[in-house]
Amino acid sequence: MNDLIKNIDKLHTTELGAERIRHNLELGVADVVNWCKLKIVQANKIVRQGKNWYVYADNAVITINAHSYTVITAHKTNPRNSTEPQITRADLSDMDEILTLQYAAYQSEALIHNDFTIQPLRETLDEVIAEYQKGVVLKAVQDGAIIGSVRAYAAGGTAYIGKLMVHPEYRGKGLGKRLLAAIEREFPHLRYELFTSGKSDRNLHLYEAAGYVRFWEETDASGIKFVYLEKERC
Ligand SMILES: CC(C)(COP(=O)(O)OP(=O)(O)OC[C@H]1O[C@@H](n2cnc3c(N)ncnc32)[C@H](O)[C@@H]1OP(=O)(O)O)[C@@H](O)C(=O)NCCC(=O)NCCS
Repeated sequence: MNDLIKNIDKLHTTELGAERIRHNLELGVADVVNWCKLKIVQANKIVRQGKNWYVYADNAVITINAHSYTVITAHKTNPRNSTEPQITRADLSDMDEILTLQYAAYQSEALIHNDFTIQPLRETLDEVIAEYQKGVVLKAVQDGAIIGSVRAYAAGGTAYIGKLMVHPEYRGKGLGKRLLAAIEREFPHLRYELFTSGKSDRNLHLYEAAGYVRFWEETDASGIKFVYLEKERC
């Protein structure tokens, strides 16, 4: 049982918080905290990220401070008119939007290392265009906006996969996994290789769950350890 469920009796919110949740979710209930408790025990998924718990239940995500058990807010995850993200090949003209997404997505990696000069945050438009020309870039589009991407190129029988990214607001719903599977399908019959920081437990979990195995580690000049993983095409 996770800590949130174990401590469910400590759940509370403020008057403003209750108002915000009623408004965001168009709820008619008087006791918002009780409603949240019910959603927590019936949740599809509960994830701890940073200082908060995120509870995914029905079409809502509830944010709860993991220290104080205060229900901070809740949002609809599947607003009316919203569509499933569609994954297709990116066009050259998408690369500036993808670079903007990259700068937003990699803030979480920068925070892990307390280093906001990591390569994905320094990359220029010319450099991402060069990567586009070298291989395949995929984009995930929802409601007209690019919310995810991944890129890869083939060399010597290996597809080198990189820059798997999902906008922070859309994480934890399987899109990262779908993008990874989609880029693998672009390069059938090849060996796949990718790397991530040794501190990124979440990324390592994602890759290992997708069948990747660690084969090498390297520490760069700034002291960041990178773990290299590979997967043979079955
Ligand atoms: C890595 C990244 C693309 C994953 O995207 P995502 O859409 O959240 O991924 P998914 O929803 O498919 O989740 C895949 C796995 O990640 C883990 N995960 C997802 N959300 C999580 C969260 N909030 N906290 C911890 N782990 C989480 C889970 O283990 C999940 O596997 P599961 O479904 O078996 O539980 C995204 O976090 C990202 O853009 N990160 C910043 C850029 C980056 O580090 N890219 C990788 C560089 S190598």
